[in-house]
Parts: sequence; structure tokens; C-alpha cells
Amino acid sequence: MIKPQINVNPLFTKHASMHKTTIGDTTESDWRLRVFDSLSFPTLILKPDRTVIAVNQRFLERNQTKEADIIGRTCKDFFRQYSDKEHLSCTGAGCPLNKSLISRSPQSTVLKTTTKQGKEIWEERVLSPIFGDDGEVKYIIESLRDITAVKHLEKKYSDVRELIDKVVQSSVSAIMAAGRKGEIILMNQAAEDLFGYAVNDAQNINIEDFYPAGVARQIMKSLRDGNIGETGKLPSTQVNVLTKDKEEIPVEMTAAIIYEDGKEAATAAIFNDLREKQAVQKKLEEAESQLYQSEKLASLGRLSAGVAHEINNPLTSILLYGNLMREKLEKDHPLTDNLNYILEDAERCKDIVKNLLAYSRQTRPSKDDFYLNDLVSESLRLIRDQKLFMNVEIIKDLDDHHIKVNADKNQLCQVVINLIINAFDAMEGTGILILKTYRNRETEKAFIEVTDTGSGIPHDNISKVFDPFFTTKDVGKGTGLGLSMAYGIMEENHGRISIKSTGKKGTTILLELPEKISSSEFPFMSIG
Ligand SMILES: Nc1ncnc2c1ncn2[C@@H]1O[C@H](COP(=O)(O)OP(=O)(O)OP(=O)(O)O)[C@@H](O)[C@H]1O
Ligand SMILES: [Mg+2]
Repeated sequence: MIKPQINVNPLFTKHASMHKTTIGDTTESDWRLRVFDSLSFPTLILKPDRTVIAVNQRFLERNQTKEADIIGRTCKDFFRQYSDKEHLSCTGAGCPLNKSLISRSPQSTVLKTTTKQGKEIWEERVLSPIFGDDGEVKYIIESLRDITAVKHLEKKYSDVRELIDKVVQSSVSAIMAAGRKGEIILMNQAAEDLFGYAVNDAQNINIEDFYPAGVARQIMKSLRDGNIGETGKLPSTQVNVLTKDKEEIPVEMTAAIIYEDGKEAATAAIFNDLREKQAVQKKLEEAESQLYQSEKLASLGRLSAGVAHEINNPLTSILLYGNLMREKLEKDHPLTDNLNYILEDAERCKDIVKNLLAYSRQTRPSKDDFYLNDLVSESLRLIRDQKLFMNVEIIKDLDDHHIKVNADKNQLCQVVINLIINAFDAMEGTGILILKTYRNRETEKAFIEVTDTGSGIPHDNISKVFDPFFTTKDVGKGTGLGLSMAYGIMEENHGRISIKSTGKKGTTILLELPEKISSSEFPFMSIG
């Protein structure tokens, strides 16, 4: 290519006979002409006033024209003939020739044109100044390069890119990519939704912000570890990620390192939120264990009911005849104490039988409307052994609304009393007892929570505490019927009992009942 610095002197002069152009009259000019003609790019030489003074063979072939049709015309006339006007910047500041003259440096522009055969092509016009001895721009050399193939490739590439962008953006999985320093370079809509960031935040965040401390490093370590899947690829893994609000969310993720020339260039990861899946799984497990518990209790209930009935009759006789004997014995008879022990234990057996019958639902509930807060206050009042309260702070966190339920109040009092006594036992006399009531308007459910700061239920016992006769208390202290009876009563009253939480800091037992909605709560119903 002719360099812009080449000084051409004397001027190009047109040869009379052929299309050939001569430069001066020396032999040196011949090779310059040959070079100009053999340039593989169609090329023109123009004067600063835009008139064409020389045209090479390739240009004539390309335009299927004669030298005479080109020489003396301005490039403006010429390009306007076949250029797509939108891309032609012939005038003013956009004119590449103007720019080259002003900047005294090469300039280029890209044109979309249609050939005489009607074929659409893309050409790059490259214009370079040629200086005279005085340092002024004497000519401009202009070459045309067909860049149609490059343009088609570019278009193909940008179409594919657009498609990939659409696939990434519309994916339901969160997709992110980070550069080598952890800077975020890609984040799709699902990732924005999952993590709570907007694309605009991307420049201020680092991939480490998306994980609890140390996790991002651990993931990178696993990615590079050839023993965990293929090097550079992390098979599906469960981790917790951090949202913008610092909420930890369980996700299933896969990740990969993107290499360029064998070097790590970026990492990409796909995340799927596991919260919904885990919630469904938990509900399923709960339902299964509920069913198992119900079945187990039903068969145990039948057995206990049978035993209770069988014991009830002899027990009634023991108590009857024992009391008759006590009346007959003189006050300081040496056997009085022994008889009292027999009668006390027989009374205890009577209580157990009563509880067993209640548990096995042999007594029908008698339902009434009452307020949940009244139930809590009444249960507290009914606890006979007030010395239990001594070192326990009792907090009543009762809902301001009058939550009404329809159930057997006496039975529910027994349930709440049992829970409170269990809580006292777990705290061994010292701690905080919280009694809370609330409701959920949408599900129309009413709740009572009994929370203590006691020892908690060991993990292995959680599945057993509702079983009849399961107790960890000393012989004679607990029968192990409190919670199983509570379970039976709650079912009978269309409610539920469950362990909401338990651990070293204490236990919360949750009672749930259908709320009785009074018509005054539906303002529309009272209109008219
Ligand atoms: N709030 C609690 N904190 C810790 N453990 C508890 C709590 N409530 C119940 N438990 C455990 O569950 C077991 C069964 O409770 P449940 O009320 O059925 O029987 P109990 O209290 O042992 O005897 P009782 O028949 O006198 O109520 C208890 O022995 C105890 O181990
Ligand atoms: Mg108990």
C-alpha cells in the first residue's frame, strides 16, 4: 500500500492513449504506476478538491467502467451513484476526505452499497493523504476494501449472541458470571430476583458478597479440584447464598471456570432456589409423621381404652371398700397409714384411667364459643401447685383482638395446663414462660404458643413425646400421658399440637385451632 508520507513529484499526468497514468517522466515512475495498477484493492487518487486524477485497474474492473468515465469527476458524484445514501457522508464534518485533509492522517468509513448486478456489499473506504515537498497535502489516495464476508460473520455472530442473551435472560434459573477478580460481568433477570440486586449494582459488588463468609473461596477450591468432578467444573451442589438483605437462601448450584488460552478468565454459575422444594418436602414429612402418629395413637388408644375399662371396675371396688375400711378403723390403728398409702395410689390409678379414657377419646367433647385469651388466663389460675411459679417469670403476650374459637374449653384447659407444667418441669423452677396468642386471618386459624427457657427435648425423643407413657421424669413424677392426651384432645377439637421449636434455649409448643369468625368481622355482611 502507498504510504501517506510518500511525496509524489512531479504531478500525476494522464497518458493520452491508454488508461495508464504516468508519474513524472523517469523510469522510476514506471514501477510506481505498475504498483498502483497491481494493487489488489480498487484505488483512486484524488485532489483535495475531490476530483479524481488517477484510477487503478482493479477499480475499473470492479465498476465495469472506463477510465474516462471516472477521471475528472468528483468522488462525491461517483459514490452517490451507487452508495446507500444512509451510509454516505459526503458533506461536512462526516466526509472522510474532509477529515483526512483536516487531520492530515488516514481516515476510513464503511459503506453499504449495491453493485451494478444488484448485489448488496459492504465496503470500507480508506483515505490517506499524500504530502508534497512543502509538507502540504497534495493528493488523497483512496482504497476500497470489500468487507462483506466480515460483515456477514459479524451479523451471524451478533445474531447468535442475541439468541444466547435471550436464552440466558429468559432462563428460570439464576445465571451469573464473574471475572477473575470476582467482579460481576453477567447477571440474568432470575439472578436479580433471587439475590435482590439490580444490574446497576453489579459494578459495586463482588462474587464474595453472594455467599456467607468463606463459601466463595471454598467453591473456587472445589472447582479447581480434579477429585470433585472434572477440573473446572462443579457438579450440582447444595449451598447457602446471601441476598442483598443478607438473607441466607438454600440453593442448588452448578459452576464452571471459563478458560481463555488455557488460563482462567471467568467463572459462571447457575443457581436454583430450593426454598419452595424444601417447604413442600417438609410439609410432606410432617404429613407423613402426623399420619404415622395418628395411626399409632389410634391403635394404642384402643388398647388403652380396653385396659382402662378392665381396670376401672376393680379400681372402683378397691376405693369403695378401702374407704369403708378406713371409716371403720379407729383413728390411731397401726394399719391406718398402710391403708392410706393403698388409697392414695388407687386414687392415682383412677387419675391415670381417667386420662387414658380422655386420651382414647372415650369422653365426648362439649363445644362452646370462647375467647382464646380467657382460656390462657383460666388455665394459669387453675394450676394448683402455685409454688411452681416462684422463680419463673410469666409473660403473657396476648393478641389484642378477641380471637374466638369453638371447642371444649375444659379439655383445652387440661391441654394448656399440661403444657405449662411440662414447661415448668423443663425449667426446673427457674426461667421465663411465655404464653402467646395470635391468629392468621387468611387461614382463619387461632394459635396458642407455650414457650419455655428449659432444657429442650433431645432430638431422639422428639418423635416419642406424643406417645402414651413416654416420660423422662422419675417414677411417680410423670405418667407420660400429658402430651398424648393433649394430642387426642386437639384432634377431637379439629385442631393440632406440634413442637414449633426445641433446643438448648428452650421449647415452644404450638396449639392450632380453627378460628370462629363472627359476622361483625365481615363488614359487608352486616350492610343493609
Ligand atoms: N417443654 C418441655 N421441655 C422439655 N421436655 C419436654 C417438654 N414437654 C414435654 N417434654 C418431654 O416429653 C415427655 C412427655 O411429656 P408428657 O407431658 O407426655 O409426659 P410427662 O410430663 O412426662 O408426664 P405427665 O403424664 O405427668 O404429663 C416429658 O417427660 C419430657 O421428657
Ligand atoms: Mg406432662
